[in-house]
Amino acid sequence: MKTYRIAVIAGDGIGTEVVPAAIEVLKKTASNGGFACDFTDLPWGCDYYLKHGRMMDPDGVDRLMMFDAIFLGAIGAPTVSDAISARELILPLRQRLLQYVNLRPMRLLTGIRSPLAGRGPADIDMICVRENSEGEYCGLGGRVHAGTPAETAVQTGVFTRQGIERIARYAFRVAQSRPRKMLASATKSNALQHAMVFWDEVVAGVAKEFPDVTYVKYHVDALCARMVTHPQTLDVIVASNLFGDILTDIGSAISGSLGVAPGGNINPDRTHPSMFEPIHGSAPDIAGKGIANPIAAIWAGAMMLDHLGERPAHDRILAAIERVIGDERVKTPDLGGKASTKEMTRAVTDALA
Ligand code: NAI
Ligand code: MG
Repeated sequence: MKTYRIAVIAGDGIGTEVVPAAIEVLKKTASNGGFACDFTDLPWGCDYYLKHGRMMDPDGVDRLMMFDAIFLGAIGAPTVSDAISARELILPLRQRLLQYVNLRPMRLLTGIRSPLAGRGPADIDMICVRENSEGEYCGLGGRVHAGTPAETAVQTGVFTRQGIERIARYAFRVAQSRPRKMLASATKSNALQHAMVFWDEVVAGVAKEFPDVTYVKYHVDALCARMVTHPQTLDVIVASNLFGDILTDIGSAISGSLGVAPGGNINPDRTHPSMFEPIHGSAPDIAGKGIANPIAAIWAGAMMLDHLGERPAHDRILAAIERVIGDERVKTPDLGGKASTKEMTRAVTDALA
């Protein structure tokens, strides 16, 4: 039987609640689909940091290389600075595992009310292709003259032709595969005259390879507004690391809840394992209460199976999610209901045909 080796980093807070929920769904899907997933837990995260002084083991990246994919919950806790928890785990993994695509569907499911008045599932169906390896989050910069009036911080963005070309090409391919075949590029070339003028030039060059895709560029601030006022005009969005981070929080908010939004950190060349995660964080405000919505993690698990070549299994999970959300009987508090993480998870496993 085909068996996929999956590294699991449940992490912190509700990561440790939604990851087991998703694994339960993945196991049932696998046994129905005639394949298996072999899950290996890695204890990394903020508790690990408090005990060992590091977010993950020094040979962490090498160990992850032995897996087919990585399934991540959430990283972050009030006891550890976010600059440490993100900078020493998630961001280095994305960079060192060459996961240069961050793929984030933003879709309003039937049964969820959008905070945008009068909008339904036909209006909100987008996917963001976020650059995940360089740009504003490359990590270059420094701080000098600490504690003096001259204290200075410099944080630099790095944009390379190779980096922009490959993310643009991936985004055009995603657009090509969707019925509307539209791609919006997020820019800010009016103010960032070096990096974003370059971004626009390179994306426009790649656009020539895809004459069947309608390509439009928007300044990122205007695009934020457009997502709220005219979401139905957007299909695929390609954005730099920072812009994509911000746009996808708007996208998940207008889709009803952060608790349903999944993401994949993808290495399209398949030289390194890809990593799938809900886009939400560790939610310290609700951690330990057993009420986190597991849908984002379950959907991220479905994206992982799709990436591993199990498209029918992905489709079965999505259908189960849509059935449960659509029938509106079982809802976690973020969706206006009273169900627990366990009840929601059971509803999805029961709905798997
Ligand atoms: P967050 O996503 O953890 O929470 C924002 C709000 O959404 C909270 O009110 C939370 O209760 C709610 N929420 C999030 N996921 C939910 C779910 N599945 N079900 C129901 N409600 C949900 O973002 P926040 O509060 O900014 O960050 C908390 C910690 O998580 C920080 O340490 C941050 O650095 C970290 N973080 C980690 C991420 C990751 O691991 N990829 C991503 C974002 C934040
Ligand atoms: Mg974010």
